[in-house]
Amino acid sequence: MRDLDQISAIIDQGWRRVWATSGYLSEREARFIMAAAALAPASGKNLEIGSFKGRSTVGIAFVTRELGLGPVVAVDPHTSPASTDPDLRRSGQTTSYDDFVTNLKSAGVFDRIEIKRAFSYDLAREWKDPIRFLWIDGDHTYEGAKADLEMFKPFLVDGAIVAMHDVLGTFEGALRVFVEEVLDCDDFGPAGFSGSIGWTQYRPRDGSRFRWRRRLLAIPSRKLIPVARRADKGLAGWNKFLYKFWRPLAPHGSVSVRRLAKLLRTVD
Ligand SMILES: C[S@@+](CC[C@H](N)C(=O)[O-])C[C@H]1O[C@@H](n2cnc3c(N)ncnc32)[C@H](O)[C@@H]1O
Repeated sequence: MRDLDQISAIIDQGWRRVWATSGYLSEREARFIMAAAALAPASGKNLEIGSFKGRSTVGIAFVTRELGLGPVVAVDPHTSPASTDPDLRRSGQTTSYDDFVTNLKSAGVFDRIEIKRAFSYDLAREWKDPIRFLWIDGDHTYEGAKADLEMFKPFLVDGAIVAMHDVLGTFEGALRVFVEEVLDCDDFGPAGFSGSIGWTQYRPRDGSRFRWRRRLLAIPSRKLIPVARRADKGLAGWNKFLYKFWRPLAPHGSVSVRRLAKLLRTVD
């Protein structure tokens, strides 16, 4: 494991590249996934489901390249097929693929990525490799997010990190999957939020040791499920009040490299 200050410096450089790439990821979230990809104490591939124009792809590819950590696979049909996807037509496009490739080249990470222009469920049919970092940012419907976790969970290596985007927000499906399939499940150990990202570490041998911490996180998150369901046309009135009440009770601030390393027990 490299020095944590060195990892922080690499993340700073990565952020400059992510910042220059269009897409859907805040600075806090981008820094979090770069830290998670850097610190996951496991060997294997880094799999991204849902790339759009490459904002998250650039961050993951940059840090894992600088640290010599496993190949990056990015799967996306680049047609925004899910009801939860960004609307491509608004920008007069039919595909995000051309912008994706241009952005990866501008960031200098194109050669680092194995691009799969496909649906995650098509890739899953041929997938055989161990996964050290799984980033789920594709179809945010309940069925889509659940399938993405279920299809690739068998390939997670002990210690791998799973991070799901748009969990702590108004996407009911992704939130419900995170609460029911991750926070309620002893296959997973430490867990938390950063921005709208829900994350956890795959710890099938001792995940039960973290059960109570996951249960505490699940209390406010579970309360947000019906709020998110009613928010499909925007947050308003009493529902907005409930959102503003429960969301802060699920801690979702920035997570420093040192803090994450401690949570993952990669440092004392
Ligand atoms: C929210 S965007 C991803 C944003 C991107 N990660 C970023 O950092 O800007 C969601 C993407 O998921 C893709 N998608 C939707 N369903 C998918 C599926 N079943 N498998 C793979 N990608 C999917 C869409 O084409 C879209 O580009």
